[in-house]
Amino acid sequence: MELQIEYIPTGEIIRVVSQNGECKTAAGSDGIRLTMESALTARDRVGVQDFVLLENFTSEATFIENLRKRFKENLIYTYIGSVLVSVNPYKDLEIYSKQHMERYRGVSFYEVSPHLYAIADNSYRSLRIERKDQCILISGESGAGKTEATKKILQYYAVTCPASDQVETVKDRLLQSNPVLEAFGNAKTLRNDNSSRFGKYMDVQFDYKGAPVGGHILNYLLEKSRVVHQNHGERNFHIFYQLLEGGEDDLLRRLGLEKNPQQYHYLVKGQCARVSSISDKNDWKVVRRALSVINFNDNEVEDLLSIVASVLHLGNVQFAADEQGNAQVTTENQIKYLARLLGVEGSVLREALIHKTIIAKGEELVSPLNLEQAAYARDALAKAIYGRTFSWLVNKINKSLAYKEAECPGWRSATVLGLLDIYGFEVFQHNSFEQFCINYCNEKLQQLFIELTLKSEQEEYESEGIAWEPVQYFNNKIICDLVEEKFKGIISILDEECLRPGDATDMTFLEKLEETVKNHPHFLTHKLADQKTRKSLGREEFRLLHYAGEVTYSVTGFLDKNNDLLFRNLKETMCNSENTIINHCFERTELTDKKRPETAATQFKNSLSKLMEILMSKEPSYIRCIKPNDAKQAGRFDEVLIRHQVKYLGLMENLRVRRAGFAYRRKYEIFLQRYKSLCSETWPTWEGRPHDGVAVLVKHLGYKQEEYKMGRTKIFIRFPKTLFATEDALEIRKQSLATKIQATWRGFYWRQKFLHMKHSAITIQSWWRGTQGRRKASKKKWAVETIRRFIKGFIYRNYPRCSENEYFLDYIRYSFLMNLKRNLPKNVLDKSWPTPPPSLYEVSQLLRQLCMQNMVWSYCKRISPEWKQQLDQKVVASEMFKGKKDNYPQSVPRLFINTRLGTEEINPKVLQVLGNETIKYAVPVVKYDRKGYKARVRQLLLAQNAIFIVEEAKIKQRIDYANLTGISVSSLSDSLFVLHVRFEDNKQKGDVVLQSDHVIETLTKTAMSADKINNVNISQGSIKFTIGQGKEGIIDFTSGSELLIAKAKNGHLAVVAPRLNSR
Ligand SMILES: Nc1ncnc2c1ncn2[C@@H]1O[C@H](COP(=O)(O)OP(=O)(O)O)[C@@H](O)[C@H]1O
Ligand SMILES: [Mg+2]
Repeated sequence: MELQIEYIPTGEIIRVVSQNGECKTAAGSDGIRLTMESALTARDRVGVQDFVLLENFTSEATFIENLRKRFKENLIYTYIGSVLVSVNPYKDLEIYSKQHMERYRGVSFYEVSPHLYAIADNSYRSLRIERKDQCILISGESGAGKTEATKKILQYYAVTCPASDQVETVKDRLLQSNPVLEAFGNAKTLRNDNSSRFGKYMDVQFDYKGAPVGGHILNYLLEKSRVVHQNHGERNFHIFYQLLEGGEDDLLRRLGLEKNPQQYHYLVKGQCARVSSISDKNDWKVVRRALSVINFNDNEVEDLLSIVASVLHLGNVQFAADEQGNAQVTTENQIKYLARLLGVEGSVLREALIHKTIIAKGEELVSPLNLEQAAYARDALAKAIYGRTFSWLVNKINKSLAYKEAECPGWRSATVLGLLDIYGFEVFQHNSFEQFCINYCNEKLQQLFIELTLKSEQEEYESEGIAWEPVQYFNNKIICDLVEEKFKGIISILDEECLRPGDATDMTFLEKLEETVKNHPHFLTHKLADQKTRKSLGREEFRLLHYAGEVTYSVTGFLDKNNDLLFRNLKETMCNSENTIINHCFERTELTDKKRPETAATQFKNSLSKLMEILMSKEPSYIRCIKPNDAKQAGRFDEVLIRHQVKYLGLMENLRVRRAGFAYRRKYEIFLQRYKSLCSETWPTWEGRPHDGVAVLVKHLGYKQEEYKMGRTKIFIRFPKTLFATEDALEIRKQSLATKIQATWRGFYWRQKFLHMKHSAITIQSWWRGTQGRRKASKKKWAVETIRRFIKGFIYRNYPRCSENEYFLDYIRYSFLMNLKRNLPKNVLDKSWPTPPPSLYEVSQLLRQLCMQNMVWSYCKRISPEWKQQLDQKVVASEMFKGKKDNYPQSVPRLFINTRLGTEEINPKVLQVLGNETIKYAVPVVKYDRKGYKARVRQLLLAQNAIFIVEEAKIKQRIDYANLTGISVSSLSDSLFVLHVRFEDNKQKGDVVLQSDHVIETLTKTAMSADKINNVNISQGSIKFTIGQGKEGIIDFTSGSELLIAKAKNGHLAVVAPRLNSR
């Protein structure tokens, strides 16, 4: 078992792990250390912060002087190694702020001034790093500051631990359970205005992230007697005064209470209902709020307060004796309230209060009570109700604090940090059963302290073979045995006296005690004492020499309190209660259970032994609280009182062992495992024995001889600074290791990624190549097939269609059609046409026609009327002259013009004469006389019905179309023509010989106008024409080099037409 935490100030503290689990760098922690060190102001350095540093460490006077010096400067905390000694300042010091908390968070013990936050943080980090349950044991006598310390530690966790929404509520509940428990379990005593009258052990559960996720409270022996009786200057439990002071009028009315505590017998015994340091009114508000935080609903609160009220009413129940001396209830009003508040029959309760039922041989015997017995029964009921309600309250709080492990049931996911705040050693003027139990409890805790620190520490040195001079200390086991030993111990004797038939009294118990333990060095009674001491002892008293000093106990009430008896009929009445809490607290099985319930002392003994087991299973830290004076005064340092506490707390022994001992020890395996990376020989694995490995390691680290010792299984390091240096080195080493791991991992990671990608690429490539290959192969196959079919088709091409040639034929056809589609003639003049295969010959013809038709049709559709007219004329010209007259081809490309002379070029007189004859065409011409063939310039006009030959303003000749019998031209390239006119026409002077530069155009228009298309003659050699009066003229046409028109010697008109190239 690793129990030496007392001497492990920073044993496994890894300073660099911060609260939220992050690692700080070594540089960062150095930085923190610097800040922290500078924060240790000169004031902080008053005296020594750690008693270990005292020169004269064996001197008690020096020890106390150091405490005093620091206390004067409000430095209430001092270490002995890792144990914190705290002196109650009795005033508020500014050392519990959030900034203070932050200063201690994640920082090493010795780097900051002593504080309970350092202890809290240290335990928390050990819990997180080693995942080992921790406990903080807070001891000291009543009023020394234990409860305050517990609360401050809880606050520290609430503020500094990581949190989530759910955790926030847990934190709230953890904090808020305190005011409720204090209201019901604390009271003003002579020693402490807020004295805990019950023992409390609280587990705080942390999840793996270090967030507080739940809690559990164990309560020990509530001082119930306080409910019915208080010593002078003391009070009942706070809740009674809070309810009366702070309760709303409405509530008090419901509960039947008055605002004045003086009205209640149970509140007036101590004669100090009001205390200046306590504000019951404010506390009431705090409690009410806290109740809702820890999940109390309105009904539960009402039931709870009903119980508190009913205790007060019970206290006011009075009795009077009747003639027979039997008690009768005289305060009917109280019974009425009680009946309502407890939900019982009034009459039943009344009877139960004044009678006692005994079951003897299966028969129920009811006997009346006398006055004294009735008062006893009433008080017993009040105590039972209050005591059980208190236990119920703790259970209820536990339910609201319970860690919901639903996520992973069965798996212990939470680590636990326990806080023990149990009543301190108590010595009053008058000490009773309660003080006996309380002081016994303190003996047990001292035992545990000795076991875990002084004893086991020294035993370990011995077993490890470390040279060691034992430190003497007082082992209080002898006192523990005196109290708890079987058969011979005080508790056993008390129980025996309680259970024995016959008239056992407190005095018979004392006698038995004297008889049994008379020789015990720590036990004394009036009878056993020597003359001198006897004076200080009453006859009903016994004295125990506790480790912390002598205490004289009065045996009065020991038997009753140990029996904790409640008459059966009262129990039965409570079992029938309609108040759900009472109903819960009193179970019916209790009535039928034949076995005697355990006595109070035995119950307490057993619960303490369980507590010891719990504490033993955890790594403890200690806070030793010291009370500076009995007057609760700030700044007063009562040396006698303090010396006494220093002594009984064993602080001097503690210091001596601490000085002689070693700050740190660890099993070789663990030490090696943690630090092996600091030495190349032990890293990454040490093959030999761990002992040798550690030896090599510390040599490498340069540990000096006096700094450490090698035990059988462990290494012992004397000074914390040696370990700090090693820790710092590890921190730096961790950085480089982390970098190395990162680099290796990154290398590995990217290599894996690369390999994966490479593999993928190859897969894709090969797949693609395969696909490509297959495509190519099938294409080739297809090509071969096609070629083969083609060749076969070619061979069979002239056969009728069959399977061998159908493909070929289709292909030929197809390719012809496709070719045709691409090469269709562009216009009607384009005569090209692909040659069709034989099978498509006919189709080709049809298509060609269709194509032509189509071209023509679309051409025609596009044609304008003017152009149509032009074409009509051209067609006529073509019909008339094509292939017949030499200069026809020259005329083809030239467009025919509507008219060659505009109206402005025709004499107005002519136009006037023509009147409404429209001129369709006019052209300048040359007229050859019929006689001398003289050339005269004329204009030829084509009108609606006639041709006019005009000279200037004179119409020389009119030839009606009807009289035009024909037109003659030569076949040569000249431009002469003859209009043959009907002979009978008197007015006519014969045919007209004319020449037009646009002979084809002029003739076409003339022929068309006169509708004489078929009357155009084209003569080869000469043209005959009539000159008039039956005479005939002849024009001879010959070809020559150039145009020549002249009268020949034979009287003919000779025309030489130039030869044209085209001919
Ligand atoms: N650290 C502290 N700072 C200021 N006052 C304190 C401190 N510790 C204790 N006290 C005072 O002493 C009184 C008694 O302390 P408490 O913790 O109740 O004692 P214990 O639980 O040991 O009996 C408190 O009510 C408070 O007034
Ligand atoms: Mg307390």
